Amino acid sequence: MSEQNVSYKEIGIVNTRDMFKRAMAGKFAIPAYNFNNMEQLQAIVMGCVESDSPFILQVSSGARKYANQVLLRYLAQGALAMIRSMGSRLNFALHLDHGDTFELCKSCVDTGFSSVMIDASHHPFEKNIELTRQVVEYARQRDVTVEGELGVLAGIEDDVVAAKSIYTQPDDVERFVKATGVDSLAISIGTSHGAYKFKPSQCTRDEKGVLVPPPLRFDILEEIERRIPGFPIVLHGASSVVPKYVEIINKYGGKLDDAVGIPAEQLRRAATSAVCKVNIDSDGRLAMTAMIRKTLGEKPKEFDPRKYLGPARDELKDLIVEKNKSVLGSAGKGKEIFG
Ligand code: G3H
Ligand code: 13P
Ligand code: ZN
Repeated sequence: MSEQNVSYKEIGIVNTRDMFKRAMAGKFAIPAYNFNNMEQLQAIVMGCVESDSPFILQVSSGARKYANQVLLRYLAQGALAMIRSMGSRLNFALHLDHGDTFELCKSCVDTGFSSVMIDASHHPFEKNIELTRQVVEYARQRDVTVEGELGVLAGIEDDVVAAKSIYTQPDDVERFVKATGVDSLAISIGTSHGAYKFKPSQCTRDEKGVLVPPPLRFDILEEIERRIPGFPIVLHGASSVVPKYVEIINKYGGKLDDAVGIPAEQLRRAATSAVCKVNIDSDGRLAMTAMIRKTLGEKPKEFDPRKYLGPARDELKDLIVEKNKSVLGSAGKGKEIFG
């Protein structure tokens, strides 16, 4: 295996094709968890092995820079070895999240990623097709799967900042999928990135005064499914912004006012549709931050990172088990897919 040029097949991981086929047929979704450090990776591996869930390890370009791209490839290799050492036959895809250039996607294909996203959705439609097609042509040579995007999510998409969401136009999807050859399509139906998915003015309040966000546009999702039947759809910005973590963070000195996410029931509904991949980053960040703040708040004399990163990792692992079981429906599907 050369340092700078390695296929994911040499590492022993898988692309997303078979996972999505099974998810579509079984009416569940594959969780895509973002990571950039060892504790997150341990939590994802432990949580998915414990719940026997197929999964996608997802890395943004910022995370790739943070973790170091050479180390990252060995982290993925290590994750597979760890899974085997736990007696599991589970496997996973290593995916570039929100790739914004052909060069970045190519670099990931060449350094062991099994799947890449080219996010050209902020470009005009024809330019989006052209750039996405270019990535697909390169990725195909190594049997790497490609996710494209149509429509723009509000919030921050790595380096791409969108003030307002622009829902995916069902009229565009058939042509985009045919012209680009993508393996999956990320759509915009009302989710957004980060912990502040909706402004309070967009929400109503329940009897306890808790913000209730507007529902996702399932009508658009259904129309898209009608236009491209059986085609894998991806939902970004799918964290629920779990209230218990926001409360702990605020109790121990944080300041996350009016943070609001996507209710779990809506994600569950999406997971039974053509949505085959659900992206979750913020909930993991919140879970870890909550436990780090709590531990340091309660034990001000503690300065061994293992003493606060350990509880943070355990909390993230528990969150992942819970998501796989009750939101994605992916728990227990590992054996079906990987034997
Ligand atoms: O969609 C964006 C992901 O949450 C990654 O965020 O660019 O801060 O790593 P990041
Ligand atoms: P959240 O910010 O809702 O976790 O979304 C993550 C995501 O879409 C990564 O691509
Ligand atoms: Zn995203």
